This record gives sequence, C-alpha cells and structure tokens, in this order.
Amino acid sequence: MKSNNTSPQNILLGVSGGIACYKSCALIRLLKQHHIDVRVVLTEAASHFVTPLTFQALTGHPVHQHLLDADEENAMGHIRLAKWADQLLIAPATSNIIAKFSHGIADDLLSTLYLAADCPISIAPAMNQAMWKKPVCQENIQRLRQQGVTIIGPENGQQACGDTGPGRMAEPEQICQQLLSPANRYLNGKKILISAGPTREAIDPVRYISNRSSGKMGYALAQAAEKAGAEVTLVSGPTHLAPPEQVRLIAVESAEQMANAIIPIASQFDVYIGAAAVADYRPVLVEDRKIKKQGINTSIELTQNPDIIAAVAKLTPRPFVVGFAAETHDLENYARNKLRDKNLDVIAANIVGQSRGGFDSNENALRVFWTDGQQTFAMTDKCHLADQLLQLIATKLNE
Ligand code: PMT
Repeated sequence: MKSNNTSPQNILLGVSGGIACYKSCALIRLLKQHHIDVRVVLTEAASHFVTPLTFQALTGHPVHQHLLDADEENAMGHIRLAKWADQLLIAPATSNIIAKFSHGIADDLLSTLYLAADCPISIAPAMNQAMWKKPVCQENIQRLRQQGVTIIGPENGQQACGDTGPGRMAEPEQICQQLLSPANRYLNGKKILISAGPTREAIDPVRYISNRSSGKMGYALAQAAEKAGAEVTLVSGPTHLAPPEQVRLIAVESAEQMANAIIPIASQFDVYIGAAAVADYRPVLVEDRKIKKQGINTSIELTQNPDIIAAVAKLTPRPFVVGFAAETHDLENYARNKLRDKNLDVIAANIVGQSRGGFDSNENALRVFWTDGQQTFAMTDKCHLADQLLQLIATKLNE
C-alpha cells in the first residue's frame, strides 16, 4: 500500500449525491491552493446536484463518471485512475456509498475505485441525522474504520432538511487540514512494538488453556499506530484477524514464545504496548501424545509464565512501556498496583466480562492511569479508541 507518511500530491475526489456536494467545489479550490492535483469521480446521483462541467473547470481535468465508458477506459481506466491517486477522498460520502464500500459492492466507478485503490482512503460522511444514527449505518462506519479508512466528521448542527443533529459534512477547511496536517502523523518516525491476542498453553497435542481475547484491541492499536506514521511490529497470539497492511507480524502461540519474540528486541523500540492477554500459567507437563480418557488425571499442575511486560520494563535501554489491565471489578486499584509493580509508564484499564466492551467486542472503554494522572475514554469502537490512546501516548512521549 502507498505510504501514509507524506502529504498527498494526487487526490482522487469521489463525490456522491447529497446536498453537501456544493461544498466539494470549495474543497477542490482549497486543495488546489496547496498545489495538489485533484481529479473528480462523480456518482450518477451527484451529477444531479453539481454538473461535471463545474468540477472540470475547477480541477482542469475531465470528470470521471462511468465504469464502462470506452473513451474513459482509453484515456484512463479505473485501475490506472486508482494507481494515479495517493489519496482517495470521498466528500460527501452518502449512506449508500458507505454501505457499498463496507460490503465490497462494486457496481459503479466510485465503488470499484474503492476496491482498486492502494492508497490511504478518507471519507467525509454527509446525511440526515436519523440516517447517521441508525445502527446499520454505524456498523458500516465501524467496518470501514476497521478496514483502515479515516472518517472525517460529520459535524453536528442544522441540516438542509431542517433537522438538527450529527450528519453535516465537515467543512472543506477541516477536511483539508486533516488530510494535509502533520498532526495526523503524530507518531512519525517512532518504532512501536505491540502484543495482541491470547496465548495458548498446550496440555497435549490437541488441548490447551487459553482465554477470550480476540486480538481486536491490539490489532486496532497496530493499525492506528501505522496510520499515525509509526513503524509497527505486532507480536500476536492466535487470532482470526488479518494483520493490518504495512505492519510486521510475528505470530506466536504460547506465552513463552511471545516472551522469546518480544524481550530480545524490545530495546530497539520507542514504545512497547502490551495488549495481549498473556496466560499467567502453563501446564508443567505437556504430553506429547493425546491424553486418553482413562489416563487423565483430575488435576493439571501449573507453573507461572514469564511476565513479559515486567521484563521489558527492566531492559536498558527501555522503551516507553504501556500495559493493559483487564479487570472485572475494582479497576483503579488493580490497575494502579500493576502500574507500580511492573514499573510501567502508563496502564490502560478495561472492564471485562460485561455485555459491552472488553474481550472479543468491537468496542471498548478505557481508564488510563500514570503515576500522577489519569484519563477516561468513553465506550467507542476499538479503532477510534486505539487512536485516542495513541495520541495520549504521543503526548507523554514528548513530555
Ligand atoms: O483481544 P480483545 O478481544 O480485543 O480484548 C482486549 C483485551 C481485553 C484482551 C485487552 O484490552 C487487554 O486488557 N489486554 C490485557 C489483558 C491482560 O492480560 O491483562 P492482565 O491484567 O492480566 O495483565 C496486565 C499486563 O501485563 C498486560 O499488559 C499483559 O499483556 C501483561 N502481561 C501479563 C501476564 C504476563 N505473563 N505477561 C505480560 O506481559
């Protein structure tokens, strides 16, 4: 995938059909003022709000509208168009185009370009507030975040239809600033090591002890850190997740393997984040043949696993060390004890075992503690939460 770490020079602007289309014209002028080459892809619905001629005059390029247009395919086919772009921006993005993107439906030029694009993608949603709040729309947005799409806005306020609420397209200045601002790459140049997922502690070749971690929190952190400009290494226990692009993945199974993957290299990193749910214990004896029913003991003797994060915090030189604490109760007490006992710089504590958040959920909430402070992040999807936590870590790194 093309890099996220430099300002875009070639922006492919997708315009889907809503009243906010008029703002796309101002957006193009702003981008052009920053010497960015802009090409426009219009959906059929958008062409009823603003004519292709307007966009052609503003960009100095023909406007692309059809997937199967012989002339356009000769001039610049959709694959070449996708390759040309170093940023795909959809503004406004309607609920319809968001749903198509999130489900991989490619039935027109813009939705096909979404699949063909190998560059960072941002969308600025615009729709009626009730449509924006609908769970299905929020699920689609969440799916896009998980696919690495940056969501800009929407804003709260008075809408063209007379309603008031969230759904107004972000202002062109805000979109432009977010695309071009180095603030988005707040971890530029940093090397970040992240652990994720559960560990499996073998009992015999077919059985193991493990926990409910899905890896979603750690993978969201890896993806958000990469988007923020960091070079990311992800050490992961077994999960069903695809590793984020541009992230180096080291796959492990047991706590000992995780320790062996992390501790020898951790000194080379600026930050270590322990989001993995490392099993504290493993069986003393791992049978090399499947234990038969009649042979099974009623108890399995356990021994303690290495405490990976505590070992990392003892290294010299040592990265900035961020732990997680998964607790069912008394969150602050247990988290602060772990912060102190493991000599961590920051600990992100989450409640587990409830209906929302924690293990295997797409959302989570965090209370983050350091020696003389704390910050709370409300329940949100793990991708957004990861970005919030990383911004806090970036601030602490600069202190
Ligand atoms: O993976 P998900 O389904 O998305 O769920 C996310 C999560 C709940 C697993 C995650 O947010 C989380 O809380 N991860 C840490 C879980 C945990 O093991 O917490 P703990 O309180 O037992 O451990 C405290 C810290 O020590 C953690 O940073 C852990 O990685 C680290 N540790 C623990 C034991 C050990 N032997 N070595 C360690 O490094």
